[in-house]
Amino acid sequence: MPSTSRSGAPVHADLDTAREAAVATVERNVDAFGDAYPDDTTVQERYHLRPALGGVPEGGNRGWTTSFWTGLKWLTWELTGDEAVRASAERNAADFARRVREEIDLDTHDLGFLYSLASVTTARLGSTEEVRRDARDAALLAADHLMRRFLEPAGIIQAWGALHDPAQRGRTIIDSLMNMPLLTWAHEQTGDERYADAVRRHTTQLREHIIRPDDSTFHTFYWDVETGVPVRGATEQGAFDDSCWARGQAWGIYGFALNYRATGDPELLTAAWRCADYFLAHLPSDGVPFWDLVYGDDSTAPRDSSAGAIAASGFLELARVDTDPDRVARAEEAARTLLIDLAAGYAPEPPDSSDALLLHGVYDFPKTRGVDEGTLWGDYFYLEALTRLERPEWVTYW
Ligand code: GLY
Repeated sequence: MPSTSRSGAPVHADLDTAREAAVATVERNVDAFGDAYPDDTTVQERYHLRPALGGVPEGGNRGWTTSFWTGLKWLTWELTGDEAVRASAERNAADFARRVREEIDLDTHDLGFLYSLASVTTARLGSTEEVRRDARDAALLAADHLMRRFLEPAGIIQAWGALHDPAQRGRTIIDSLMNMPLLTWAHEQTGDERYADAVRRHTTQLREHIIRPDDSTFHTFYWDVETGVPVRGATEQGAFDDSCWARGQAWGIYGFALNYRATGDPELLTAAWRCADYFLAHLPSDGVPFWDLVYGDDSTAPRDSSAGAIAASGFLELARVDTDPDRVARAEEAARTLLIDLAAGYAPEPPDSSDALLLHGVYDFPKTRGVDEGTLWGDYFYLEALTRLERPEWVTYW
């Protein structure tokens, strides 16, 4: 029986094939890597163990992307019921609990990406009471670490680095919207209003300052930490300070939609749609973004397939939280079209010719990191979006 989405539209048959191929690749990668963590991106289409760094051994849990590996396992377990994959996800969750208890590599707002997928998800889907409780405790500890980054009087969460680092002081980035669900969850769990207040204030600051009048976005924005005054936008991973980094715009679509769900603030829904419409208007003819939206059809710049995958899942969140039937249908159509274009042109063929679920992503073009490679987060959001499209009732990990 063909599956249908929330608006009743059938899921494209090729997307069922794409999802099955993606799941088969995750299963193969779980056989190869087990509980160890692959690196952020592939090298020539193959994942390798995350290199040892700063006392963390090879394949160990550091950086901001390890939870996408655990999230891929949870999606795969939900789709297949494979208990060996679930057990591996649970062992990762125990490792995330150790990481936060031992305070390893926590000087980052990406605690949200890390602990929403690895711990909040395990607190709900774990197989035993003990597994679920340990994961919940770890996620609450991570939320408290994230709150330490909340800066008064600016009312923002600092993105990167130590709070006293002059290069990073008072800076936040559009990606941070995806880190707010950890605080929203902590508020739901504890009733402590400090978490919800931080979400409201941080997202309001981003809505007011990180979106430009033409609906493109800055990647990063600085506030004066003494006065709280907004100072300036700049890029870190985009082409220029005044260009629009494709993945940042995609984080904006998904992140503002998630925070609309959390706060009920209609201005955040408007913000998500502003990001969304700009993103769609700046796609090239094959429907998959260049790594920066400043580039168009005549460019030889690399694509960032991961931005397409994040946007696809973001559109499915918009389709879930919006109540306007025309916008719901438009969001679903955008997600389906993005996924069809990704599956047709950016998934490896045959699927076992790469360890990645999606080829042609870009991590950081200015620093020549992971250019034209598979990425852990692109793989995660591609499978998340394929899962959401097939199962509109899927309970979010965010
Ligand atoms: N959140 C980091 C990145 O998107 O590269």
